Amino acid sequence: MNYKIALIHGDGIGPEIVNEAKKILDKVCQVYGHTFTYTNVLLGGASIDVHGVPLTDEAVAEAKSSDAVLMGSIGGDAKTSPWYQLEPSKRPEAGLLAIRKALNLFANLRPAYLYDELKAACPLKEDRIGDGFDMIIVRELTGGLYFGERKTEEQDGVMTAVDTLSYNEKEIRRIAVKAFEIAMKRRKKVTSVDKANVLDSSRLWRKIVEEVAKDYPEVTLEHMLVDNCAMQLVHNPGQFDVILTENMFGDILSDEASMVTGSIGMLSSASLNETSFGLYEPSHGSAPDIAGKGIANPIATILSAAMLLRYSLNLDKEADAVETAVQAVLKEGYRTGDIMSEGCTQVGTVQMGDLIAERIH
Ligand code: NAD
Ligand code: IPM
Ligand code: MN
Repeated sequence: MNYKIALIHGDGIGPEIVNEAKKILDKVCQVYGHTFTYTNVLLGGASIDVHGVPLTDEAVAEAKSSDAVLMGSIGGDAKTSPWYQLEPSKRPEAGLLAIRKALNLFANLRPAYLYDELKAACPLKEDRIGDGFDMIIVRELTGGLYFGERKTEEQDGVMTAVDTLSYNEKEIRRIAVKAFEIAMKRRKKVTSVDKANVLDSSRLWRKIVEEVAKDYPEVTLEHMLVDNCAMQLVHNPGQFDVILTENMFGDILSDEASMVTGSIGMLSSASLNETSFGLYEPSHGSAPDIAGKGIANPIATILSAAMLLRYSLNLDKEADAVETAVQAVLKEGYRTGDIMSEGCTQVGTVQMGDLIAERIH
């Protein structure tokens, strides 16, 4: 089959990791007889450098006309990059939020599981890890604090900044349905994470999630306050199956969950709308501190490409082949620096991509 894939290389390590994920997709084409036609879409700093803005209408149109989007990461070092001299609405991150909104990507899935092979890279003690863990964070992505009204103003010589956290019941319902649907295909447990002891938006969240749960009697629902969840993730990560949460909590908790898998360089993600269309990107950022050094871990992006194959192109066998190849390389002891442990062989970004590509059959 012929598919059109938009590539967003982005900034920092973005181009390095997207090149490796593209290498994997090319190998999938070769082995399984598909054709992928790629287009390049500018976002973030890369778009600012060319167009003066982090996202153009043309870029959105190009992304929309593809079957799926594969993205690296955007952004730079806020202290040194000229992008951060611009007003906030023109900075790289504003482009990322704008494309999520423009494509209606309200459901951000971030799977966090511990490969047996990476137990040594997990910072938790063995008794905390137990039999390992396998969870998926379902993060609402187009509402909440990220998209509420904000302003900074001075009154009587005092500066005040306001960010608004708002959710309506439709926004809560559609992400809750997504989480329960996913839970039905897994271990049938949803942990809905909120701050209902303080926030009105969380109290509405809880009420709507309870309503949605009635349609899924087989799924066990529990509610957990976000501060407790942050603690439970390092106390006993094995208790979680599906974590359902709002935008900002999901952002923070997914970085925390990533570290117990060994490294943020392992955590893939899919951002989906109501259709099969999606934008696939690692959960991590552009890592300006290691950009250009050839040492970034490309696995999160490669696993995101596997999610693209599975969710947007319906190519399950091909997605399985990529995931199996990743596991094989880890089993053979190859590691990038972020997941390195004793007795393993350290490799760079390109070598890791080559090793995984070679193992796709
Ligand atoms: P970051 O995720 O870029 O980096 C945090 C730490 O993790 C750094 O030490 C980095 O070297 C390391 N790291 C991240 N990815 C890695 C990988 N693949 N392999 C090995 N190590 C890796 O977070 P940050 O430093 O807070 O943010 C840097 C920039 O990225 C900022 O401009 C931020 O806005 C942006 N950002 C973008 C996205 C995205 O595009 N989706 C996500 C998060 C942050
Ligand atoms: C992520 C990132 C983004 C977010 C930033 C770069 C806007 O941290 O994708 O996790 O907060 O959603
Ligand atoms: Mn984040």
